[in-house]
Amino acid sequence: MMTKRERMLSLLRTYVGPHLPSVLLLAALLLGTAGLQLVNPRILGGFVDTAIGRGAAARLVRSGVLYLLVGLGAQALSLGTTYVSSDLAWKATNSLRQDLAKHCLSLDMAFLKTLTPGQFIERIDGDVEQLANLFSQFLVRIASSVLLLVGIIVVLGYQDWRLGLGLIGFVAVALLTLMGMQNAAVSDSEKEREVSAEFYGFIEERLMALDDIRANGGGHHVMRGFTQALRRYTSACLRAWLKRANIWLTSFSLFCVGQTAALLAGLLLFYAQSMTVGEVFALTNYMAMLFGPIEQLARQLQDAQKAFASIERVDHILGVKREILDGPRDVLPDGPLALAFDAVDFHYEDSDERVLKDVSFRLEPGTQLGLLGRTGSGKTTLSRLVFRLYDATGGAVRLADADVREFTIGALRNRIGLVTQEVQIFDASVRDNLRLFDASVPDARLIEIITELGLSQWFESLPSGLDTLLGPQGHGLSAGEAQLLAFGRVFIKDPGLIVLDEPSSSLDQATEHLIDRTMDRLLANRTAIIIAHRLGTVQRVDQVLIMDGGRVAEYGPRQELAGNPASLFAELLRTGMEESIA
Ligand SMILES: Nc1ncnc2c1ncn2[C@@H]1O[C@H](COP(=O)(O)OP(=O)(O)OP(=O)(O)O)[C@@H](O)[C@H]1O
Ligand SMILES: [Mg+2]
Repeated sequence: MMTKRERMLSLLRTYVGPHLPSVLLLAALLLGTAGLQLVNPRILGGFVDTAIGRGAAARLVRSGVLYLLVGLGAQALSLGTTYVSSDLAWKATNSLRQDLAKHCLSLDMAFLKTLTPGQFIERIDGDVEQLANLFSQFLVRIASSVLLLVGIIVVLGYQDWRLGLGLIGFVAVALLTLMGMQNAAVSDSEKEREVSAEFYGFIEERLMALDDIRANGGGHHVMRGFTQALRRYTSACLRAWLKRANIWLTSFSLFCVGQTAALLAGLLLFYAQSMTVGEVFALTNYMAMLFGPIEQLARQLQDAQKAFASIERVDHILGVKREILDGPRDVLPDGPLALAFDAVDFHYEDSDERVLKDVSFRLEPGTQLGLLGRTGSGKTTLSRLVFRLYDATGGAVRLADADVREFTIGALRNRIGLVTQEVQIFDASVRDNLRLFDASVPDARLIEIITELGLSQWFESLPSGLDTLLGPQGHGLSAGEAQLLAFGRVFIKDPGLIVLDEPSSSLDQATEHLIDRTMDRLLANRTAIIIAHRLGTVQRVDQVLIMDGGRVAEYGPRQELAGNPASLFAELLRTGMEESIA
């Protein structure tokens, strides 16, 4: 186990290491700024003393110009600092974001299901954002703040040792007070973020379900929920804000106390004739400068704590291992694939209830299986095992006469096509929805597929062809059209096995007809499992398997079962698919 500090260093090495030149540049810029800041009050003090002593005008002008130049230089350096540190922060955190996103995408469904989209965003973006400061300027800022503080103390202590001692005491008190207050505010700020995520989650979920809510008259309840969520949000914000305002007030009070003490000390030293007016002037200036680094230090140390908490959460995610692992074989045979379930048992990780119980069947290459059964009987679950979205908990799923676990996941999924029950449409063009953002698929190939699948007419009805934009969640696309699009997606990889999970919603006659025709081409010379909700689809399959509560209730050649009046299938056909299955 690595300690927190080791872990932080290893993250810094991985993500900041490659940008060492930027880090060095940043360090130089910050040190330069600190140096210039340290010089300025001296120039000012000198100016005042020269003026009081009625010194030469030329000297005054020189000091003035010097003061101006130093001020401008400090501004320029701080501009550079902002640029370099933002650049560094983005570069370093983006590569971490990338690693996290890649890792999350590779994880098992079982894990992915445990987080909501909002939580994923918080993990991949929110937590990483907390690290931006740590990655870009933490060490450098601490170093330059300490340097500036020490510089001020040394300069003033050199002038009068009592000033130096007083300053050390003051800095210690101010630092401890501010840090204590910031730590006390952390939990409220976190609460604020949590409640805000909850609030936006609430809105997002309700917006997604707008159709349902409106149709079922749920608007009233949603508004009440909204008001309650908003109330929680407001009170959390208020509390966090008050704590922050408190810190600001305290810091301001400390500033006033410090300034007064400095003036007083300056006055005494002036009367004791150990300080000139200019030096008193410089003293108050240094005192005012003190607050920059004090606040900076308190903020950086608090940020580091938050960063540690983020590192823990990031590590937690990075530590999650896949359980569904690649097998040794990375090629599957060409052409249609044989598929067999061999006494397969399965339960989802979160319950012991078996969803599939002792399921066995065999499909020869190029044959088609119609999978029927009541809702919740395990049909979709069965299809997930073929893809290794989950692995069977007992028995084996065999593809081309080999256990699916023998193949690499990439190779396996490349040879199987899935049309899910609810086709996901992206807020993108028809082109990108078809090729799933894979820019290596040329338009010509897409048009070819559209023609091959017999979708030319549908395609011609689109207002701007492949560039036609489909709304988020496929608004403006019917269930049937979404399915057609998914057929196209599957066709691109020319799979040897297709799993088609039909949507249970009914389609209009014209679309149904179009889908039937498209399916002819899609399924030609391919093995297929069709989870059928329509009679039209059932009539094309070679074999029928009826599931009931996770078990195989009936399995056999379609024609045979249809011809046997005692079979469940014949009963289904008599009573009508829709009533008995849906
Ligand atoms: N991801 C999951 N995690 C846990 N349990 C699940 C999950 N998906 C499905 N189940 C459970 O497994 C059982 C079978 O669900 P499945 O989706 O396979 O049914 P189905 O036959 O496809 O139903 P439908 O005809 O409605 O699509 C159900 O009891 C369901 O609650
Ligand atoms: Mg289903």
